[in-house]
This record gives sequence, C-alpha cells and structure tokens, in this order.
Amino acid sequence: MSELVVALDYPEPKPALEMARGLRGVAPWVKVGMELFGASGPAIVEELKKLGFKVFLDLKFFDIPNTVRGAVRSAGNAGADMCNIHVLGGARMAEAALAGRSDSRPEMLLFGVTLLTSMTEADLPLDTGGIQGPELALRLAVSAKAYYLDGVVCSGLEVAGIKAATAGDLLCLTPGIRPDGAERADQRRVVTPAEAVRFGSDFLVIGRPITGSTHPERAAEAIGLEMERAGRENRGEA
Ligand code: C5P
Repeated sequence: MSELVVALDYPEPKPALEMARGLRGVAPWVKVGMELFGASGPAIVEELKKLGFKVFLDLKFFDIPNTVRGAVRSAGNAGADMCNIHVLGGARMAEAALAGRSDSRPEMLLFGVTLLTSMTEADLPLDTGGIQGPELALRLAVSAKAYYLDGVVCSGLEVAGIKAATAGDLLCLTPGIRPDGAERADQRRVVTPAEAVRFGSDFLVIGRPITGSTHPERAAEAIGLEMERAGRENRGEA
C-alpha cells in the first residue's frame, strides 16, 4: 500500500505545526526538510510525532563517513522514522549511515537520493561519457541496493525501471506529484497520485497541492482516495 507523505516546507515551526494539526488522521507521514529543520531544530520532529505523524527527515546527508554516521545517529535520536543520504557518497559513506542508524534507531528507514530530479546529466560538473540522467539514476539505485539501503528517492517515471532492475528489493519514494489540474509550479516531470501508485511507488511526497490549497484537509483526503483506488486497481480488486 502506497503511503502519503506531506512536505511541510515552511520557514518556521508555527505554520508547519498548524498545517500538521489540520492533517491529523488524514496523512500518516510528514516530511521535514532543510528549511524547516534549520529554523526549528530537532524539537520539530518530537512535536510532529506527538501529533501522531511518522516523520521523514529529508536532510540528504553527504559527507565523510564518520560525519554521516553521527548525522544519521542524531536523526535517529531525534525520533525520525525515515532519513536519507546521497547514494553518490559511495559504499563507505552508506555503511557509516547504516551504523549510525544501528547506534540510535534501528527501525528508522534509510533512503538514498539517486540523481536529484531537478538535474540532468548536463548539470553534473563532470563528463558522464554520454550516459543520460535516467540511466545514471537507475545505476545509482542499483548501488543503493548493493549498499543495503531500504529505498531510493526517485521520479515517479523511474519507479518501474528501478523496481525491475532491483528485483523489487528497494522501496521507492517519489516527489513531483501533481493531481490532475493542479499547478505544476517549479516541478517539471510530474505524475498524478494515481499514476505514481500504478508505477509502484511506495511513498508519495506531496507539498503545495495540499499545503497551498484553501482546504488542505480536503485536498489530502481526495489524494488519499485517489491513491486507494489506484492501489485496488493494482491488486485487481477494482
Ligand atoms: O510542493 P511540492 O509537492 O513540489 O513538494 C515536493 C517536495 O519534495 C519538496 O519538499 C521538495 O524539496 C521535495 N523534493 C522534490 N524533488 C526531489 C527531491 C525532493 O521535489 N528530487
């Protein structure tokens, strides 16, 4: 069953917590990114957990192994239920991240960012030898599996390929979701909630279509229903 993760992209804790209060019982997960975490610190994780949410701490760690081990340990100690690292950090960094999780919160999910969906091969500061962005993302996902990460952050359009290349061993978490008719804003390669579920995405990260709506709770409920319907179709129950 795919799960909804609401991105709380706010510059301070107050509006984030207000939004979260309205979404209690509607969305199981919320995502705290660098902006909100920088403004509020680890206390925001505890506050959101008190409201009943599972928390994805989206800080995309990428540093020397020892530092990443400490960063993941801190995320676990803050109570995060999911956090992430860059797969580009390589095997030793991923191994250190797993150790940081064991030190703190073994049940926390650890995801890898493949190639940021905002980037193509042309944005990389090196020559990829003609390898295109989607192929790079797929190769990085295969590495994520070899590093024993739980899943990867990827575009909804890449989920099916990644699931096939990794024998379904990786969970896929996909941002860039837009319900039919919603503003795309700065997102480019978007899929609808139903399409993301059909492609096999396990976690759908959705921000502005919910948080920017005049009725965030209703918007989240409608997305939840769309996801359930697509899930039933996937299982041949519809
Ligand atoms: O508002 P919107 O639905 O576009 O929010 C998507 C969220 O997912 C934002 O928090 C954004 O930072 C995050 N994200 C993304 N694309 C990625 C990785 C994360 O949009 N490749």
